Amino acid sequence: MSNLAVLGLQWGDEGKGKLVDLAAERFDIVVRCQGGNNAGHTVQVGDQIYKLSLVPSGILRPGTVAVVGNGVVLDPEALLQEVETLRGVGIDVRSSLLVSDRAHVVFPHHRLMELSSEGENSGRRIGTTSRGIGPCYEDKASRRGIRVAELLSEEIFPRRFRAVAAEKAAIAKALGIGRPWDPEADLRRYQKLAERLRPYVGDTTAYLSEAVSSGKRLLFEGAQATMLDIDFGTYPYLTSSNASAGGLCTGSGVSPRLMHDIVGVAKAYATRVGEGPFVTEAHGEAEKSLRKVGREYGTVTGRPRRCGWFDLPLMRYAHSINHLSSLFITKLDVLDGLASIPVCTAYRLDGKTLDRMPAIAEDLARTEPVYQELAGWERPTAGTTEFEKLPRAARQYIDFLEERLDVEIGGVSTGPRRAETIVRDGSALQRILS
Ligand code: GDP
Ligand code: IMO
Ligand code: MG
Repeated sequence: MSNLAVLGLQWGDEGKGKLVDLAAERFDIVVRCQGGNNAGHTVQVGDQIYKLSLVPSGILRPGTVAVVGNGVVLDPEALLQEVETLRGVGIDVRSSLLVSDRAHVVFPHHRLMELSSEGENSGRRIGTTSRGIGPCYEDKASRRGIRVAELLSEEIFPRRFRAVAAEKAAIAKALGIGRPWDPEADLRRYQKLAERLRPYVGDTTAYLSEAVSSGKRLLFEGAQATMLDIDFGTYPYLTSSNASAGGLCTGSGVSPRLMHDIVGVAKAYATRVGEGPFVTEAHGEAEKSLRKVGREYGTVTGRPRRCGWFDLPLMRYAHSINHLSSLFITKLDVLDGLASIPVCTAYRLDGKTLDRMPAIAEDLARTEPVYQELAGWERPTAGTTEFEKLPRAARQYIDFLEERLDVEIGGVSTGPRRAETIVRDGSALQRILS
């Protein structure tokens, strides 16, 4: 039984939630492996819009089990709130959500730490989602973290929490950045949250291993994207986890031998939220129009997304890291009505054409795009469900990207709804979704 991973290839918000929701029908279990409630995955079913953050989008399909893996950093309050919202719209979360006991817990002091590093005068602003994600992963790596298993232990949690709080308070005092903070109040609050979380917690790695042995199909739901990956993205303007293929295994405890297919998701153009280099960023009216038509405002923070054009060197880089089985291009309809569409075919830096992605953000920020203008199309693509029914120039646009990327474009999304999707005949994507 083949398993599938859905990964973002740009800077997030490519429409991973939509593809996961489409695919979930064919899978038994949907797994989140990294990130936390910095993710915002929007799924539209008919006229109902669901915004998922920590709970895998697959939960919307009845009978699908949703697993929050060990690599996720978990804000219990945010998770429980999401659970309540989902129950409010009739989704049976109690019997279908399983949270790893090895996931690290996000505490209020993580958000406070982030506020100080993200302040106006910090000199190293990344433009994060302010959810405490980075500081929680920092504690994980420095072995000061507290995981769900410890949170649930009445004996161990107070001890661990008080030790960590004392250390944080001492550091804050030494740096002169102390804010009024009552750790005992947080401790009591989290003890209450622990009891509400307890029914959902288990050993997800054992669960997934048994599921694989009994022939169940797993769907891995990526959060963030390759260019936000802590190792391969635009360091330091990125998130704190491995959002590309490698993170799937460490974040779930599922062996690389069981990652059968990886489908990458990319917009037909490009967006980014927060700071950092963006070679194909558009400016002026062109950017405004992409933002308006594409409704490019962050799901989590509501911030306007920076908008620009499809970037072939970036996508080739993302493909080289993830070795995709297929590529799913979303939001083609947002380009409807443009007379011509620039596509970046190469990077130039200091007068030379680059053959690799610069490692240093400052170099990437100076890199210039080489554009080729492709013809726009005369009638809308919105809602089209068959490739052959797209306007000729839209087909040529997709074919051009496919040819330059050397990976199949197996599907195209032409609107936010499930049905507004093209899956190309004979493609690997069609096989995977069948
Ligand atoms: P994710 O984080 O990768 O799951 O993506 P987000 O949900 O943050 O952002 C994608 C947005 O685009 C959502 O509001 C989707 O409903 C919407 N969307 C997805 N596919 C399409 C599409 O083909 N056309 C249009 N117009 N909107 C889409
Ligand atoms: P989904 O899963 C878009 C960005 C933030 C910021 C950087 C670091 O919906 O695609 P963090 O809070 O993670 O420390 O912020 O990463 N970022 C995202 N941008 N989509 C996301 O998730 C993102 N998650 C983080 O804007 O630039
Ligand atoms: Mg998103």
